[in-house]
Amino acid sequence: MESFIWPHKDLLDVDDLTVQEVGYLLDTAEQFQEVNSRPVKKVPTLRGKGIILFFAENSTRTKTSFDMAGKRLSADTFSLAKSGSSLNKGESLKDTALTLEAMRPDVIVIRHSSSGAARFLAERLDCSIVNAGDGWHAHPTQALLDAFSLRRHWRAQGQDMAGKSLLIVGDVAHSRVARSNIKLMAALGLSVRIFAPRTLLPMGVEHWPAQVYDNLEKAVSGVDAVMCLRLQLERQAAGLLPDLSEYAARFCITLRLMNLAVPGAPIMHPGPMNRGLEVASDLADSPASLVLDQVNSGVAVRMAILYILGTRNEHLPAGQAEAARN
Ligand code: CP
Repeated sequence: MESFIWPHKDLLDVDDLTVQEVGYLLDTAEQFQEVNSRPVKKVPTLRGKGIILFFAENSTRTKTSFDMAGKRLSADTFSLAKSGSSLNKGESLKDTALTLEAMRPDVIVIRHSSSGAARFLAERLDCSIVNAGDGWHAHPTQALLDAFSLRRHWRAQGQDMAGKSLLIVGDVAHSRVARSNIKLMAALGLSVRIFAPRTLLPMGVEHWPAQVYDNLEKAVSGVDAVMCLRLQLERQAAGLLPDLSEYAARFCITLRLMNLAVPGAPIMHPGPMNRGLEVASDLADSPASLVLDQVNSGVAVRMAILYILGTRNEHLPAGQAEAARN
């Protein structure tokens, strides 16, 4: 791997990263994508390192891919869920975190329903913290894997992602995926469009680096890629939505709508998908769908993140490395 001085102890959100750092991370993920195509998908890079996967909210994709990523790098991974942990006996997040750190992990990956939970740990613990989704706030590894998938998609056609347009559509108000993606894609030179039912647009959206549309057909017209968002029903107050069949009729992305986009424009969804509500089932299964490619990218991108943070001090010049260890 190319040597690069990584200045960050933690990964809390994408706006902590420069465009150059994002480029290095995605290039590193490309190398791990090659590892993932081998018959034996394992390298010794993080042998002897410990990674705790602390998921206090449900997850299929993020948790499994971090676990797989750690194991493919030969790290030891340990899982802790809210149910079955002492959080359910009333132990505080602070005490849980200090308890975990006392076991000397190198990285803690945390998902939590409270915005700011990852930063709370990062400010108190010496080990690296990776935000795997905190409340409505941020989901940086999802945005990075989405950028990786789109970059590969356009590079395969000899095209650059800078200058492309991306429509993010659905429950923007409650979506940490939207927040991280909008910041990252805009920083990478994409023109970001947003379309949401009026009640699912967040306060202050006019200050985000994106253009807000009030008509779905106009929003899709001529766009280079579309990303649907999950309806975050568990985070919504009552009365924000018409009934779900009306939502599907007005806001679900269909093959007919995608015909208004640039020919061949990919359709994305971070998952889990509600087929027929956010994205039409035939579109989700069509050649335009990047949904499973996004999941596949997640392993390589999370390998890159764990590699970069897990070997961070080893890349520092001798004096700084000594200081970082002390
Ligand atoms: N996209 C995403 O975060 O999926 P999971 O909730 O399954 O991890």
